[in-house]
Amino acid sequence: MRARSQAMCRGMHMAAIKGLKDDRRKPRQDVSDWENPRVCLVEQPAAAAGGWSALEMTGLSPKLSRPSRPKQKAHILSGLYIWVFVLLLLLPVHSGQAQPIDSAPDTMEARMLPCASCHGVQGQGTNNDYFPRLAGKPAGYLYNQLVAFRIGRRHYPPMNYLLEFLPDAYLRAMADYFAAQRPPLPPAAITIVSKDMLALGQSLVVQGDPGRGIPACAGCHGPSFTGMEPAIPGLLGLKPSYISAQLGAWRYGTRSAAAPDCMQIVAGHLTETDVTAVAAWLSTLPAPANPAPVPRGTLAMPLACGSEPN
Ligand code: HEC
Ligand code: HEC
Repeated sequence: MRARSQAMCRGMHMAAIKGLKDDRRKPRQDVSDWENPRVCLVEQPAAAAGGWSALEMTGLSPKLSRPSRPKQKAHILSGLYIWVFVLLLLLPVHSGQAQPIDSAPDTMEARMLPCASCHGVQGQGTNNDYFPRLAGKPAGYLYNQLVAFRIGRRHYPPMNYLLEFLPDAYLRAMADYFAAQRPPLPPAAITIVSKDMLALGQSLVVQGDPGRGIPACAGCHGPSFTGMEPAIPGLLGLKPSYISAQLGAWRYGTRSAAAPDCMQIVAGHLTETDVTAVAAWLSTLPAPANPAPVPRGTLAMPLACGSEPN
C-alpha cells in the first residue's frame, strides 16, 4: 500500500468531482488513486510507523483509537466493511515508481483533507455559497447528515461518492472531529434584501407565524441559533444561498430526515418569499458570546422531530 502525502490529499475539490465522473462513466481501471480522494480517507496519508492502516480503518477500531496490532486482520474480512478493502484492491498500483512522501502524521486532521477544500480545514466553511460550515454543529447532527449522504437521503454527488463505502464508526469519528472544532464564526453578512424582507425574516425566525402553522425557528435552533444537542444544527455562519437551498430541498422532497420530519413540515409552510427572508436575516446575525449548541432537552420544541429524541 503506497503512502499518500498530505499535499496529495489537499485540494481535493476538483479531484472529488473527477473521481466521481471517472467512477460512473469509465471503467474502474481508469481511476488513478492519485486522483481519487476516497483513497485519502481510508489509507494512511503517510507511512508513519504506528499509524492507522487502511485495514484497521475498516472497522477494527470502532472508536478510531490507535489499534493495537493488525493481528485481527482476518476478523475484518467479514461484513460490509470488506467493500472498503475491495475498493482499495481495485485501485491500480503503479509499482516501481518512487513516490514522494512528506511524512504527514496520520491524524484525523490529515485524513479530513479531502473535505477541506469545500468545508475548510476546521470545517469553518469557504467562500462558496453552497458549501456549509460544519464546525461546532452537534456531533449527532453531523453524523445523521453523513449517513444521509451515504444512503442517498441527501444528494450531492461528490459527498455521496466520498462516503459511499465508509463504516458508521468512521462517520462518527468525522462527526466528532468537526463538532469539536471552534474556528471563529464569519462576520455578519451585509445583505442586499430590503428592510421589509429583513423584518419578515426576523419575525418568522423569532416568533414564527402561528396563523400559517409556522413555528419559531428559535424554538428548536435555540435563542441564539447555535442549535441543540444532540442533533439540531446551529444556523450561524451559513450563506443565505445554502439556507435557501436546504429549505427548498425539504419543500421539494430531495432532503429528508428521520420521521417525523419536522423540517419538512416547517419548510412546507414557507413561501419562496419567506425562505428568502429567513435566510437573509439569519446571515446578518453576529456571532454570539457562546457559540456552543444548548444542552439536550433545554428547549421545549414546538413539534416533534424524529432526529432529535426528546
Ligand atoms: C466537492 C465539495 C465537497 C467535498 C469534497 C466534501 N463536501 Fe461535504 N458538503 C458539500 C456540499 C455542497 C454540501 C451541501 C450539500 C447539500 O446541498 O445538501 C455538503 C454537506 C456536508 C455535510 C452536511 C452539513 C450540514 O450542515 O448539514 C457534512 C456533515 C459534510 N458535508 C461533511 C463532509 C466531510 C466529512 C467531507 C470529507 C469526507 C466532505 N463533506 C467533503 C461539499 C463537499
Ligand atoms: C421543531 C423543531 C424545528 C423547528 C421549529 C425548526 N427547525 Fe430547522 N431543523 C430542525 C432539525 C431537527 C434539523 C435537522 C434535520 C436533519 O437531521 O436533517 C433542522 C435543520 C435545519 C436546517 C439545515 C441546516 C444545515 O446545516 O443544513 C435549516 C437551514 C433549518 N433547520 C432552518 C430552519 C428555519 C429557517 C426554521 C424556521 C422557519 C426552522 N429550521 C425551524 C428542527 C427544527
